[in-house]
Amino acid sequence: MKDLFDLAGADGVDRERIAGGAVLLRGKALAGEAGILAALDRVVAQAPFRHMTTPGGYVMSIAMTSCGEAGWVTDRSGYRYDRRDPGSGQPWPPLPSAFRALAADAAREAGYPDFAPDSCLINRYLPGARLSLHQDKDERDFSQPIVSVSLGLPVVFQFGGARRSDPVRRYPLRHGDVVVWGGESRLFHHGVLTVKEGAHPVLGRQRINLTFRAAL
Ligand code: SIN
Ligand code: FE2
Repeated sequence: MKDLFDLAGADGVDRERIAGGAVLLRGKALAGEAGILAALDRVVAQAPFRHMTTPGGYVMSIAMTSCGEAGWVTDRSGYRYDRRDPGSGQPWPPLPSAFRALAADAAREAGYPDFAPDSCLINRYLPGARLSLHQDKDERDFSQPIVSVSLGLPVVFQFGGARRSDPVRRYPLRHGDVVVWGGESRLFHHGVLTVKEGAHPVLGRQRINLTFRAAL
């Protein structure tokens, strides 16, 4: 359905409503790209990517790290937000100001002016990695949206509905695209198909996803 959100915003960013409460902002992260990538390097130097284990004992194909007051972690005991990096025993690196600014700006543009993330999960997909359909439901407050930033290699994003069996739509995501979902779609199922082999001019042979959440 076409509505106001299909028009370009004041900054020229294309907005596409993909569900009630959910908006795809094409290229939204490009204007601040240099600051985002520099901040990403600093976070990863302090809290390196690692492959975590699911409660079922499966090692995830995606490497992850976090920044903010809490990081999402999984191990044999379950999924949770933890104030400390289990790798180092130290608090996670703080949310860089460039990250916070992008998340707040994207959320505002999608209709969530009060988004206050306290966690950013950073996912690294090498070619061959994927993320099957799931809901983001380990957070305490579902009134706050999710802001998801794509960097590096392209991927096909899947966005379904409240039930796992609901129809799923597919959206190609490229470097700089941002998806925001909240409100009636906050608990909708989503995932990404397998990342294809390739090399991105800036990030090389990988896709990075930043997922901002109000977790605590
Ligand atoms: C996620 O659902 O946590 C990440 C989605 C993505 O990588 O685009
Ligand atoms: Fe997710």
